[in-house]
Amino acid sequence: MIKTELCRLLDIDYPVIQGGMAWIATGELATAVSQAGGLGIIGAGNAPADLVREEIQKVKKVTAKPFGVNVMLLSPYVDEVIEVVIEEKVPVVTTGAGNPGKYIEDLKEAGIMIIPVVPSVALAKRMARLGVDAIIAEGSEAGGHIGELTTMPLIPQIVRSVDLPVIAAGGVADGYGLAAVLSLGAVGVQVGTRFICAKECTAHENYKKAILKARDRDAIVTARSTGHPVRNLKNKLTRQIQAIEQKGALKEEIETLGIGRLRRAVVDGDVIEGTVMAGQVAAMVTKVEPAEDIILDIVEGAEKVMKKNCELIV
Ligand SMILES: Cc1cc2nc3c(=O)[nH]c(=O)nc-3n(C[C@H](O)[C@H](O)[C@H](O)COP(=O)(O)O)c2cc1C
Repeated sequence: MIKTELCRLLDIDYPVIQGGMAWIATGELATAVSQAGGLGIIGAGNAPADLVREEIQKVKKVTAKPFGVNVMLLSPYVDEVIEVVIEEKVPVVTTGAGNPGKYIEDLKEAGIMIIPVVPSVALAKRMARLGVDAIIAEGSEAGGHIGELTTMPLIPQIVRSVDLPVIAAGGVADGYGLAAVLSLGAVGVQVGTRFICAKECTAHENYKKAILKARDRDAIVTARSTGHPVRNLKNKLTRQIQAIEQKGALKEEIETLGIGRLRRAVVDGDVIEGTVMAGQVAAMVTKVEPAEDIILDIVEGAEKVMKKNCELIV
C-alpha cells in the first residue's frame, strides 16, 4: 500500500485527508475516515464554538486516531472556535477562506499541527514563512469556494515554491487522481466531493442523490462577480444567481441570495433552491459506500495505476 511522508507527518495509514466541509463534515464522517486510516476533518463552517466542541467530542468518544478541524476564517465565531480547538487539543487544524496568520503562534504553542488551504503560490509562500506544517493546495475543480488555478498547474508551482509537504485538493476522486497528484509532487490528497457520498456522512439523502445524478458539466461556478466564486451543482438557485449576475446585481444582493442555502440543501434536503456545493468530480461518484471503501478504492487504485505506468516504460 502507498505510504508517503504525509502518513508519517499525520500518523495515518493512507495519504488521504477528508476535506472539512461546512454542514457536511460532522463528527460522524470525520470519525469514519479517521477510523479507516485517513485523516477525518470536522468542518466548523459558521457554527458557534459550542457546536464545534460537540462534534470534536463525538470523534474523541469513538476513536483515539488523529483527526482535524477545518476553521473557516470568515466565520463570525472564528476566535472562539480557535479557543475550543486549543482546549480540546485537536491534533490538526486546517484553515479555509483566507490567511490564518494571527492564530498560528497560539496553535503551534498548543502543539497543534496547522495546515492552511491555499489557492495560489503567493499565499503558500506567506504561510511557509509563518511556520505552518504543510500546505493544502486546492485547485478550482473543487467543490465549495474556489480560487482561479486548476490543480494540474497549481500543485507543481507550489511544490517548487515552498519547502513543505504539499497536499493536493480539487478534482481527485479515484486512484487515477491520486496517482496524478503524487506525480505532480504532492504527498497526498484532500478529497471532499466523494466523501459526501460516504455512508457515514449525515448529509440529507437528496444531497447525495444530486451528486450521484450529476453529469460532467453540472458542477458550475456562480458568484464570480462577488470575488468569492462557489462551485455548486446547477439548479433553480444557480439559475437565479446567474440571472441577477448577468443583470449586474450588486455583490450584496448576490450574497444575500446565498445566505442559509447550504444548510437548506444539506439539512433540509432542498436541492432545488439550496446550494449543492460539489466539485467537477461529482459525475465520477457512482454510489454511496462506507468511508473505508472510498479510501481503499483510491489508494489501491493509485497503486495499480502507478504499477501499470511503470510497465508502460520500455
Ligand atoms: C459541500 C462542500 C463544502 C465545503 N466547505 C469547505 C469549508 O467549509 N472549508 C474549506 O476549507 N473547504 C471546504 N470545501 C472544500 C473541501 O474541503 C475540499 O478541499 C474540496 O472539496 C476538494 O475537492 P473535491 O470537491 O474535488 O474533492 C468544501 C467542499 C464541498 C464540496
